[in-house]
Amino acid sequence: MHFQLSEEQRIIRQAARDFAQQELKPGVIERDEQQKFPSEAVRKLGELGFLGMMVDPKYNGSGLDAVSYVLVMEELSKIDASASVVVSVNNSLVCYGLEAYGSEAQKERYLKPLAAGAQIGAFCLSEPEAGSDATSQRTTAEDKGDHYLLNGTKNWITNGSTASTYIVIAQTNPELKHKGINAFIVEKDTPGFTIGPKENKMGIRGSDTHSLMFNDVRVPKENRIGDDGFGFTFAMKTLEGGRIGIAAQALGIAAGAYELAVQYAKERKSFGKPIAEHQAIAFKLADMATQIEAARMLVYKAAWLKDQGLPYTQAGSMAKLFASKVAMDVTVEAVQVHGGYGFVKEYHVERLMRDAKITQIYEGTSEIQKMVIARGVLK
Ligand code: CAA
Repeated sequence: MHFQLSEEQRIIRQAARDFAQQELKPGVIERDEQQKFPSEAVRKLGELGFLGMMVDPKYNGSGLDAVSYVLVMEELSKIDASASVVVSVNNSLVCYGLEAYGSEAQKERYLKPLAAGAQIGAFCLSEPEAGSDATSQRTTAEDKGDHYLLNGTKNWITNGSTASTYIVIAQTNPELKHKGINAFIVEKDTPGFTIGPKENKMGIRGSDTHSLMFNDVRVPKENRIGDDGFGFTFAMKTLEGGRIGIAAQALGIAAGAYELAVQYAKERKSFGKPIAEHQAIAFKLADMATQIEAARMLVYKAAWLKDQGLPYTQAGSMAKLFASKVAMDVTVEAVQVHGGYGFVKEYHVERLMRDAKITQIYEGTSEIQKMVIARGVLK
C-alpha cells in the first residue's frame, strides 16, 4: 500500500488549483448573488481538458484516471462548487455513460463534442415524484417503430439551460417496472422540448438548475442507449461514478472552508493573541483537519478502486455519505471560527456552508447512500 500521488496527478492537481485561484475566485461572490452561470470559466475548463477527463483521447477526452478527476473536483470545489458541479455532471454522468454504454455512432456524434468541452451535457433522471425512488419514472417513451415519443417532466436538472445534449431516462413499458425503463439522447432544439424557469437555490447558485418539459418529443430509435429496458441499470451504473465526483466536491468544499478558517485564525487577534492560539479555536481546527483527512481517504480510495477495475459501489456511497457530512460540519465550524465576519459574504465561508448542503441531497441523498451501503453489508 502506498499513499503517494504520481507526478502527473500532482501536476494536474496544481493546474486545477491555479485555475481555481485565477479563473474561478474573481467574481465568485457576484455569480452566487446574481445566480450567474460561470460560462467563461466552463469554456476554459473545456480547453484544459477538464470536461472529458476520463474519456479516451480517440473521443477527444484527456484519457486520465479517476484519481486525477477527484483531485480536480476537490481543487475547483474549494473555490466554486457551482463551476465544479458542471465538471462533475459532464464527466461522470454524461461522458462516462456515453463512453461506457453508447453506440459507436452516439460516441462520434455526441461524446466527442462533450468530451472536448465544445458542448455541455445534462443527466435527466429526477422527476416531481421520482427523486430517491428512481424506479417510479412517470416520463414516458412510447415506442413508435423508428422513433420514440417522449412525454413528461424532469426536475432539478443541472446544466438545464446551458446543455446541448440531454440524457433522459423514461418509462417505455410500465408493466415491466424498472426493466421497462430506457435512456435516450435528446438534442436541445428538438420540437416539443422546453426548458422551465431557473430554480432560485440556497446554494450552488451559479449553476443553472431547471425543470424540463417533454411534449410529444420525437427521439430517433438510434438515440436509445443500450438495449431495450437497459435505462435503469444505465442510470445506476452512471450514478455510481457520479457519487465519487460529488464526494470529491464535498471534500473540496470542506477543505476550502477549512483553509480559510486556518488563515483567519492566524490573523485575527483576541485577548492579546491570534485566535488560533486559543485552545477553543485550535481544537476546532484539529477536528476539521482530521475529518477532512478521513473524507479524503474515502474519496481517493473509491476513485482508486474504479481505476483498478474493482467494485466501487459501496466505496463510492461511503465516500459521498461521509464527505458530504464533513462538508456540512466543517463549513458550519468555519463560519463559527470567523465569528461575525463569517456571516457576511466577503469572507466566502457562508457561501461554502450553503453550497455544502446540496452534497447531501443530489446524486442520491445521504439516506440513499445508507441504503446502498447497507445492501452491500447485508448481502
Ligand atoms: N447497478 C446495477 N443495477 C442496479 C444498481 C446498481 N448500482 N442498483 C440497483 N440496481 C438494479 C437492481 O439489481 C434491480 O434489478 P433486478 O430486479 O434485475 O435485480 C433494479 O436495479 C432495481 O433495484 P432495487 O429493487 O434495489 O431498486 P430500489 O428502487 O429499491 O433502489 C436505489 C434503488 C438505490 C434506491 C435507486 O433508486 C437510487 O439510487 N435512487 C436515488 C436516485 C438518485 O441518485 N438520483 C440522483 C438524480 S441525478 C442528480 O442528482 C444529478 C445532478 O443534478 C447533479
